[in-house]
Amino acid sequence: HSLTSLHTFGLAAHAKDFLTIDSVEGLLRILSSLQKTPYLLLGEGSNTVFTEDYNGLVIKNALTGINISEDDNFYHLNVASGENWHDLVRMCMNKGMFGFENLALIPGSVGASPIQNIGAYGVEIERFIQSVEFVDLRSGMYGHFNKRECEFSYRESRFKREPGARFITSVNFALPKANQVVATYGPLLEISDPTPQAIFDKVIETRKSKLPDPSVLGNAGSFFKNPTIDAERFRILQQRYPNIPHFGAPAGRVKLPAAWLIDQLGFKGQKRGDIACHENQALVLVNHGQGTGEQLLSLAREIRQQVQSQFNISLDNEVRLVAGSGPIEL
Ligand code: FAD
Ligand code: EPU
Repeated sequence: HSLTSLHTFGLAAHAKDFLTIDSVEGLLRILSSLQKTPYLLLGEGSNTVFTEDYNGLVIKNALTGINISEDDNFYHLNVASGENWHDLVRMCMNKGMFGFENLALIPGSVGASPIQNIGAYGVEIERFIQSVEFVDLRSGMYGHFNKRECEFSYRESRFKREPGARFITSVNFALPKANQVVATYGPLLEISDPTPQAIFDKVIETRKSKLPDPSVLGNAGSFFKNPTIDAERFRILQQRYPNIPHFGAPAGRVKLPAAWLIDQLGFKGQKRGDIACHENQALVLVNHGQGTGEQLLSLAREIRQQVQSQFNISLDNEVRLVAGSGPIEL
């Protein structure tokens, strides 16, 4: 089964087996077969890159359904994991339920949103998550994690650390009726009256100006995570590079934009075959059409090695790379 149109990077790859899950009953029916075969869960493939043919079963999530209720203080949403994230954001905006506006236009499914705790423009989804419901794929039991049990941090969660252990079936969000807008990140500071609608519009405008549209140019968003270093190492780095952009991170650490580090090394626009470092955003690697997994891994490894030798900083990949036998590291 071809995977090319099932992941936004669009590399040519096939899966040995493929199936779509559109009901929880359907999922429960196939559980016993999962004990015997390697499998990979897939939403919309916007954070997954198949670098070669996958020798197992790809299970695409197509669970749908949205339930909304409210109390005095919150709108409560129970959203099936196969719903599209940006469609949900748009629906909430149209109904006057605010909070998701900073996370507009992030590709992918609702079910993947807690996995790497999606974040953009000063907001991470954990802010609105009450709980995540799942089927434990070993025991076949339903379960849920409240927010604390999800162990969220920057681009991390318990789900991401234990891939394939649980199939997320729905996410429970709570949007405060007295929501405070967040307009502190870069371009959002330019908005004179930061209403949720103004933030929604600005986020979309900014993203469209920097990030390639996967339906036009294959990509998976940021290829690496932004690294954090301790304050002392940052001080030394800043002496060498006084203009280095930086952000505060938990525990007094400093977060650096990997895009800046990669940009400094002159990678922007560089190509290896049909794989390139994007012209407008150095952190995004793109597929000009006929790129191969080998070309992608070679460019990504080169970037990582040079960032290591020039800045003594180690980059972790943000995207999930999948080779023949399953997930791989760079
Ligand atoms: P997939 O790639 O299909 O899956 C991601 C991972 O989750 C895989 O490991 C998969 O096995 C697992 N998974 C998927 N569904 C389930 C499920 N139901 N149960 C259990 N496991 C599951 N991310 C951000 O955080 N911020 C951004 O600003 C951002 N911008 C992006 C811009 C572009 C142009 C692109 C292409 C990507 C961007 N991303 C961003 C990354 C991506 O959009 C998110 O990671 C998104 O949540 C992935 O959703 P998906 O459904 O496509 O996940
Ligand atoms: N910069 C450069 N060169 C570039 C691009 C950026 O020097 O080519 C510098 C700029 O100085 C800018 C800084 O890097 O101030 C940060 O750039 P940007 O605001 O574009 O954000 P980012 O750190 O590259 C992160 C997320 C994005 C998210 C944006 C907005 C990660 C790994 N990436 O990117 O998420 O949309 O912030 O909040 O944290 C994704 O995960 O796929 C993704 C796109």
